[in-house]
Amino acid sequence: MSNYWKNKIKKYWTVNYVDDSFERISQFFRFLFLKRILLKLKLDHDKRIIDFGCWYCFFLDEIKKNWYKKLYWFDILKENIELCENNNFRNLIVWDIFYFYKKYSNKKFDFIYSITVLQHILKENEFEKVVITSNKLLNIGWYFYMIEWFWNDKLINKFILKRNKEKFIDLMKKNWFELIEDIQLINWWLYLINKFIRIRFLEKFLLKILFYLSIIINKKKKWNETLNSLLFKKIKNV
Ligand SMILES: C[S@@+](CC[C@H](N)C(=O)[O-])C[C@H]1O[C@@H](n2cnc3c(N)ncnc32)[C@H](O)[C@@H]1O
Repeated sequence: MSNYWKNKIKKYWTVNYVDDSFERISQFFRFLFLKRILLKLKLDHDKRIIDFGCWYCFFLDEIKKNWYKKLYWFDILKENIELCENNNFRNLIVWDIFYFYKKYSNKKFDFIYSITVLQHILKENEFEKVVITSNKLLNIGWYFYMIEWFWNDKLINKFILKRNKEKFIDLMKKNWFELIEDIQLINWWLYLINKFIRIRFLEKFLLKILFYLSIIINKKKKWNETLNSLLFKKIKNV
């Protein structure tokens, strides 16, 4: 692993509760995914981007450095926003999407990404409101991107989304989000890495290989035990 990534892990590891290697590895994995989508969409550099459920702004930090400047974020936990502030992300302090919308309803955004967040919304009506609000926040023709991560049955049973992917996609369609891409990654690879390979031996290229292999194997779709990436395009205002 390069020094750059080592330092990054170290920095966040000490200020955050990211204290298990599984979480750290999966975060790199998720970041590769996000990066791939940004490269695919080729958004202009002046586009407005929101990280919905930013945690400690790991992804934003990377994006800011490399591509985009008009970045916004929110997270339901105050502690997380404070971590973002430590990281010089200072222009917003908000707690959830509804409050965010109230404050910024006069602005339109170009890209929302939400990585392993939506499964934490436990009430069905609230979930629907999140989808509607996401639509209101976005410009027509741009994209909404999310990854959902369902990793064991005990946890899945708590979530509304459970294995009900079709229901979720229907809800998105009802709210004028067209599904552009649906990729599922085989999560047990991440478990194997976690179990048998120490982080210091994990090179970035290994993650990349796993990533592309997952896309190929993904043809055989299975809903549980996967990291799922769904890319939507907004086609109409509601
Ligand atoms: C599993 S973490 C993922 C964090 C980050 N997106 C990542 O992938 O590393 C889930 C995050 O979603 C946030 N979250 C959960 N429900 C939320 C909500 N309703 N609104 C905003 N953030 C929420 C949590 O506080 C937490 O930071």
